[in-house]
Amino acid sequence: MKTKNTLFLLMFLTSASLFAAEKVYDWGKTGHRVVGELAERNLTKKALRAVNELLGGEGLAFVSTFADEIRSDGRYKKFDTWHYVNFPFDKNYNDQTPNPDGDIIKGIETCVAILKDPAQPKSEKAFYLKLLIHFVGDLHQPMHIGLAEDKGGNDFQVQWFGRGSNMHRVWDSNLIDDYGMSYLELTENLPKLSKAQKKFISQASLMDWVTETRVLTIKIYESAEKGEKLGYNYAYEHNHLVRQQLQKAGLRLAATLNEIFG
Ligand code: ADE
Ligand code: ZN
Ligand code: ZN
Repeated sequence: MKTKNTLFLLMFLTSASLFAAEKVYDWGKTGHRVVGELAERNLTKKALRAVNELLGGEGLAFVSTFADEIRSDGRYKKFDTWHYVNFPFDKNYNDQTPNPDGDIIKGIETCVAILKDPAQPKSEKAFYLKLLIHFVGDLHQPMHIGLAEDKGGNDFQVQWFGRGSNMHRVWDSNLIDDYGMSYLELTENLPKLSKAQKKFISQASLMDWVTETRVLTIKIYESAEKGEKLGYNYAYEHNHLVRQQLQKAGLRLAATLNEIFG
């Protein structure tokens, strides 16, 4: 009897921990930190001073995961829908009724408006700055502009090197973790860009980011079948795209902050 109880307890704990591992996150911590670090390296002196003042000396990489950390605190529930937007492949963002609870686009617009508002207290600005740093990253993860029916690829099961995963997680973290590099190593080894290329990326508008990322979402849905075993070949064919998205997000976050605090 005792062994049976212990067995049940063990089974319960195992399934509970597996369930916990299923928690939906965004670009894993490494991805968000690359975006934050690259943005920090591209801030003007003036913007860097303003950001340092708001963040009390914590770096952009450090605070980039804050919006995920507060998800376990019920007081911040209203921000859950700000991490993504879902709409059908044959529609544009502006063709549909926006989620009344908010989405990543409204979220970014709200953060920018609060940071630009001289009437907002410093504590409020610091909070929304941390959210902005995170959401500009999320918006460049193609599965965050996904389809509602599979929760942005969370229900699109695949295998990653023989282990259960899903397309959302492949793009949040599996592809990045495959490098086995720190966020600093990844930041320092992003694709080399000319000045003109950097400028072109940095000048794009929020709606350009959405349109551009959405094209990638559609390509990614075509890149694998449900249940497919993904591994070396998938990583080889898609690693460049992940690094490019992290780079675009970092440069655009810097441009946004330079515009706000410039
Ligand atoms: N939940 C529902 N859709 C989602 C998405 N696209 N990304 C993250 N979480 C989601
Ligand atoms: Zn995600
Ligand atoms: Zn997120």
